[in-house]
Amino acid sequence: MGVLDGKLVAEKIQQEIGLEIERLRNERRVVPGLVVIMVGDDPASSSYVNSKNKLAEKMGILSRLVKLPGNAAEAEVIQSIAAANSDPLIHAILVQMPLPRHIDPWGVIDHIAPEKDVDAFHPFNQGLILQNRGRIFPCTPLGVMRILDHYGIDPAGMNAAVVGRSFLVGKPMAVMLSNRNATVTLCHSRTAGLTGILRESGLVVAAVGKPGFITAEMVKPGAVLIDVGINHINKEADFDKHCPRSQYEAFQKKGSVITGDIHYQAFAKAVHYTPVPGGVGPLTVTMLMHNTVELCKRQLRDA
Ligand code: GUN
Repeated sequence: MGVLDGKLVAEKIQQEIGLEIERLRNERRVVPGLVVIMVGDDPASSSYVNSKNKLAEKMGILSRLVKLPGNAAEAEVIQSIAAANSDPLIHAILVQMPLPRHIDPWGVIDHIAPEKDVDAFHPFNQGLILQNRGRIFPCTPLGVMRILDHYGIDPAGMNAAVVGRSFLVGKPMAVMLSNRNATVTLCHSRTAGLTGILRESGLVVAAVGKPGFITAEMVKPGAVLIDVGINHINKEADFDKHCPRSQYEAFQKKGSVITGDIHYQAFAKAVHYTPVPGGVGPLTVTMLMHNTVELCKRQLRDA
């Protein structure tokens, strides 16, 4: 059983991106620019947005935050997108999800210029991925692919189960694995016979947002387990249910810990697995920087 160390992979990719940024600065006199548009002040989103800004700054990416109040109208969000679409210093636009309930995410995403769509959420970019000619890929599934590649895990020919069908992670993940010749079953929390499907799957990607949803008895011995879940545990009873004793000291000290969608006891059956924290998480924000640089390079090429 081996840990797939996301932090290590993220650091290696950050070094590569750093060289690209330096090259763009020296040879083209261009600094890649990212704008993050956030509506409201959901604490989890604020924490993601902070870590995005921090890494962008550290890497020498121009990072701008547009913060709109939680009751902002859809038209205001669209206006911010339009401003970023026509700003020559901005190469990448991210609208932080989830948006407040009164805003239709598609109504917003449709307005992002596809060439500045750093999440690859625009239907044009998602369509290209579906047709196996994607240019830009959503950050989390791209991070998963980079972990698999780093450790030489080739999905070709594997039975892969993706649990969770969000447009952020599950759906593009399933398509990307299929494009790499895995046989993919796209499941979700209400899939009938989920245990039977997982027990036949050599690769499982869990992205349901439910702590410990995939338990040890659901997992095929020798499987590769990729855990995308980030669940905050702050109650003692939940800790006992979902977390190993080795995290208890941290839980007591901070009052909360994060845990994934795969129960920790399942990892004992895996040949390789990503831990939470320290697995897929560090890759997501790193791939955002990668995509920002990629979009910048493409725009220079197409100019
Ligand atoms: N919210 C959680 N993950 C993401 C992401 O990858 N992109 C955006 N835009 N919002 C998110």
